[in-house]
Order: sequence, then structure tokens, then C-alpha cells
Amino acid sequence: MTSQSPDQIRRAARLNEARAEHERLAAKVAAHDIAYHQQDAPTISDADYDALRRQLERLEARFPELADGSPARRVGAAPAEKFAKVRHAVPMLSLGNIFQPEEAEEFVARVRRFLGLAEGAPLVITAEPKIDGLSCSLRYVKGELAQAATRGDGFEGEDVTANVRTIKEIPHRLAGHPPEICEVRGEIYMTKSDFAALNERQAQAGKPPFANPRNSAAGSLRQLDPAITAQRPLHFFAYAWGDIAETPAPTQHGMIKTFASYGFKTNPLTKLCHSAADLLAHWRAIEDARATLPYDIDGVVYKVDDLDYQRRLGFVSRAPRWATAHKFAAEKATTILRDIEIQVGRTGSLTPVAKLEPVNVGGVVVSNATLHNEDEIGRKDVRIGDTVIVQRAGDVIPQVLGPVLEKRPKHAKPYEFPHICPACGSAALREIDAKGEMDVVRRCTGGLVCPAQAVERLKHFCSRNALDIEGLGDRQIELFHTEGLIMSPADIFTLEERDKRAVKKLKDREGFGETSVRNLFAAINARRNIAINRFIFALGIRHVGETNARRLARHFGTFEALREVGRAALDPESEARAELNAIEGVGDVVAEAVTEFFAEQHNEDALDALLKEVTPEPMEEVQTSTPVAGKTIVFTGALERMTRDEAKAQAERLGAKVSGSVSKKTDLVVAGPGAGSKLTKAEELGIEVITEDEWLSRVGG
Ligand code: IVH
Repeated sequence: MTSQSPDQIRRAARLNEARAEHERLAAKVAAHDIAYHQQDAPTISDADYDALRRQLERLEARFPELADGSPARRVGAAPAEKFAKVRHAVPMLSLGNIFQPEEAEEFVARVRRFLGLAEGAPLVITAEPKIDGLSCSLRYVKGELAQAATRGDGFEGEDVTANVRTIKEIPHRLAGHPPEICEVRGEIYMTKSDFAALNERQAQAGKPPFANPRNSAAGSLRQLDPAITAQRPLHFFAYAWGDIAETPAPTQHGMIKTFASYGFKTNPLTKLCHSAADLLAHWRAIEDARATLPYDIDGVVYKVDDLDYQRRLGFVSRAPRWATAHKFAAEKATTILRDIEIQVGRTGSLTPVAKLEPVNVGGVVVSNATLHNEDEIGRKDVRIGDTVIVQRAGDVIPQVLGPVLEKRPKHAKPYEFPHICPACGSAALREIDAKGEMDVVRRCTGGLVCPAQAVERLKHFCSRNALDIEGLGDRQIELFHTEGLIMSPADIFTLEERDKRAVKKLKDREGFGETSVRNLFAAINARRNIAINRFIFALGIRHVGETNARRLARHFGTFEALREVGRAALDPESEARAELNAIEGVGDVVAEAVTEFFAEQHNEDALDALLKEVTPEPMEEVQTSTPVAGKTIVFTGALERMTRDEAKAQAERLGAKVSGSVSKKTDLVVAGPGAGSKLTKAEELGIEVITEDEWLSRVGG
């Protein structure tokens, strides 16, 4: 019998749904991180990207279990290979965002509450423009510029010292008497007019233009040849610091003034404010000045001035509690809705995407926007051919607000959301959930016959936490699927054999070469033996994310045992079903999904073929005689030497239980930079708190 309440079951079901969505978003964010940070070639607008990250963060706020190792916890992406790596002595974190005036008031109130300031007690907060460039950390040793690094993933950036030395506004030697070690941080940017002139030159040279001043600044700085950077007019504002031997001033504004005395340019629009009203007045003044400023800004940054207060306020997750970015309002534009495209996800969800006549919305060209879901299209009565209002706010995905009715073409018809899947023609239905409510998502019922779902499932099968096949990314899978080379997971493993006999070999195709094909086959063969938990996860059984896969693997030990019980559990009254239900953390919803999976002949066939190629291996042995065996551990804040996934796996291997929240049952908290409420709670409860390094030395890592 199940040990879970109906509420727990529903939450587990929602969590698993959320996990699937989370995986999808996380994979997207990771891919865009690489395009942006390593290739300087973003394929989506900043707003689209920010929106994706926000979606991810929102999901994680609702389901903190999902946050482990998530890209939402990373700032930017891992650095490109071409520059040497630099580990930041103090991480370069990010800023939280606010959009509404009330949120500025809340920010001030939160800070005051946290510090326990009495009413009327003074609190100084600085307000300054948020420069739209790229941040850089400049390390001075004995006053000499020793190293310059980009932010990278916040912990490790790229060594751009040679390029930074070509920037006139960055002193090679500091004036005055700086501390022996002094890391000055700030923003490298390009002016609007220099950006326009550079694009002109790019066009004349037949090269693609940069999308905006920020991308052109990033592209200019990350040149392998510093001589090219030297020709690009880059500027720098100092606004923060990292590793510093001693702080020469007790306040934020004092520090910035000191940096000015060392020879840096600092932003003249920085103001000391004494209340939320002051902050908002300055925010408005900066917004008014925005168009006339020579550089791009996207908001105003508020920072608590007193450095002791900053220290006490500390960090939450990846952002300081003592600062926030108040972004400028959404930008709107009108354009024509050319089409509505329906995208099909791995679990068959149909998502409507507006295909727009490209339009510049506050400096970013938007050609896709979200239409949310079927009901939303109906409610707004958006029709193909309509002139629509598109909005993008700093961090929100561009969205279609609604049609401009006066401009509606005479023959525009109400949009009919498809009831059949555009990819396979199967019926697409809206399920009724446990509460009897209709799901907002319409899903294709085609399952294995749906090519869109098949492709998404194959992508999932090869993804990082599943089989993790290097060289078999989303693009390659789409290609192989279209060409009929990989239709099911087993086909991946017979690819090499078939390629030997093929007339048109992989290596002769565009985008492939002898080496890349050899590497691909090696990567595939390296996965012929795979940990059973990864194997189960890779199957993409609904509601079976990584955690449930691990639970099933731990319980059954072998895949055959799971398969046998999975088959026998079809009868809800069976002993097998009771066994599934009794596994800790597995409830009705998961048990049913597992049995449904094995009841499907297609899946059985696909598994038979796959198991001829791949051997699921036992999970790594869990040890019982380690210093942490049997303990409940919580990881919080940023980890610098391993990912959350690694940390969790390591702890579990050593016999510990990893939990997402701190309670009286917690034995140990491992806290990294940015640790917030969990750390506070652990301290309140008197639970032992150690650093990542202490953890590693304790477990011998
Ligand atoms: S302070 C710990 N001040 O915004 C926070 N950041 O979203 C240190 N930025 O990574 C950052 N202008 O690239 C700060 N006046 C300003 C800024 C600013 C632009 C950028 C910076 C940062 C990002 C955070």
C-alpha cells in the first residue's frame, strides 16, 4: 500500500511534470550559454534568454528540489577554450532584478528589517546606472595590473589581460597607495556611436553586424589577437571590487571614490539616497536621461552604502541581498502576426509560438513571441494576420499582449488550436487532472509514433544526466532522425556497424569529418555499459526523473527485476503494484506511469533491441563505513569545486542522504558563497555548517 497522502501524490506528480519542464528549459539555457559566452553568437535575443532563465528560476522557486546543479545557479557560461582560465578569488556574482516602484520600497524595507534598523534610523543606499556591457575583474598586485578576467561562469572566467591592456581607460599602474592586492571590478562597454561606426565598417568589409553595443564590446574584448581589440574603442566604469587586501573606505561610495583616485573612470550619475522615494526619484531622472547618454543602460543599480551592512546582509543564491537592479519598463511595439507555430515537446505538449514580422522592440529584434497556451489565444482572440502588440521587459519572454482590432484584416478567422498533433496527426487532448480540472496543456497522444516526441525523447536519452553521449547533441539527433539513421535508442548503437556498410558514409556528410565521426563512435561505445539509474532515467518514463530513477534502481538492483515488476504491476491490485507503491518516494502516479510504460508493446520492443546493445550496470556501491554514512546532508549556496549533481552523487555513494531543505533531522550543512535562508536556519537550529573544502577533506575528495 502507499505510504503517501493524496496531497503528497499530487505534489510528486506535479514535481515530476515540473522536472520534465525543468530539464527542457535547463538544456535550452545551457545551449544558449554556450552560443553566447563561448561563441559570441547568440541565437536568441537577450530578453528571450532572460525569460528562459526566469522561467527556470520560477520553477526552482516552486520546486527547490530541481535547483541542484541547475544552469539557473550559474552566472553566464563556462569559459571558451581559447583563453586561459582564471579562477576568481572572490566569485563574480549577479544581481537580482526588480521592475516596479513598489519593489524598490520592498527592497528598502527588507534591508531595514534584515538589519533590524529602528524606524527613523538612517540607511544610505547608492543608485547608479546599470551599464549594458560586460563585467571584468582587474587584479592589481602592488599597484600593477597583473591580470584581467571576464566573469565566465562567475567562478572561473577567461584571462583577457593582453586585450584589456589595450583599453585606455584601464590604468596599467594605479595612482596613490592602493592595497597590495586590489581587484577592481566594473563594466567594459562600447558607446552607441562607436557601435554604429563599427557596424558600418563591418558592413563595408562584408562581415555580419553586431546586434547591440554590448555584443560588440564582448566580441571586441574576446579577440585572440589583442591588436584587434586595440582598434576597438572600449571604455570602462569601475563600480565594485573582488579580492582586496584591505578595504580603503568603509562605504560603497567611498570605495568608488578611492578607485577614482587610483585613476579609474566612475559613473557621474551615482547618487547617495536616503529613502525609497529618493531612489525612485533618481531612477526616474536616469530613465529620462537614458536616450541622451552616450552608452546603453538597462536600469539602475541600488546598493546599500555601508560595507558593514553589506557584509551582514550577505548573499542569497547568486545575488547579493544588499543590492538589486531596478530595470526599466517593458518596451512595446506593434507588428504583424504571420503565423502560429505549434511546437511538440517530449511528453507531447503542444506549445503555440507567435511567428512575427521581425520588429525592433527597444533595441532587440523580436521575431518569435510566446502566446502561452490555447486558452490565452482564445481569450485574447489573436488571429493570424492581425497586427499585434508585442512586449518585452528586461527579463520576461517577449509576449503578444493582444491584437489591434482596428487593423484586423477583413478575412481574419478566429484561430483554431489544432486538436491533432501537427507532427504525427494523432489526436491531441487535454487531460483532466486529479482535481478534476482540465490541463491547460494539450498533448499529442501519438506516443511512440509521433516523430516530434520521438526526436525529443532521443534528445533526452542522449542528454547529460542520461546516457550523456558527447557529439550527439540536439542538432545531430534531429539530422540523424530526419535522415532515418536513428529512429530509436538502439539505432544509436548500431550506427557504426551500419555506417561501415553504407554507401554514403557519415564522414562524407556536411558538418562531419573523419575525426568527428571517430570521436562520435567512441563516445557511443563508451556508453554500452551504463549505470542502471541513468539507464532508467534515459527511458523518459513519465514522472520518472533522476531522483525516481535512482529510487527504482536502488530498490530493484537490476533492470530485469524492475521490468518484471513493472509488467506484473499492471493490475492495480497485484502484489507487484504494492511493491512499486511501497518504494520510498514512489507513489501511485509514478507506479502507474511505470506500469503503463511496460504495458506498451512499442516500448518492450524498443527495450529488447536496446538491451542487445547496452548493459545497465549496478549503481555505484553505497558505502556504509564512511564518516558521513547515514547522515542527512544539505548543500546550499554555490559550490565551486564540483557541481551540485556531483556533490549529491558523491554524498550518496558515501552512504549519506541528501536533502533539499534544512530541518531538525539535518546532520550537516555544506554552505558555499551565496548561501541564504538554509544557512540561517541551520545556524538557528545549531546544525554543523562546513565549507565545501572542509567537506572535501572530510570525505577524502
Ligand atoms: S554591481 C555583486 N553595478 O550587471 C554585484 N553591476 O546583473 C556586483 N552591471 O554582473 C555588480 N552596471 O555586469 C553592478 N553599476 C553596476 C552595474 C553592474 C552593470 C552588470 C554587471 C553585473 C550584472 C548583474
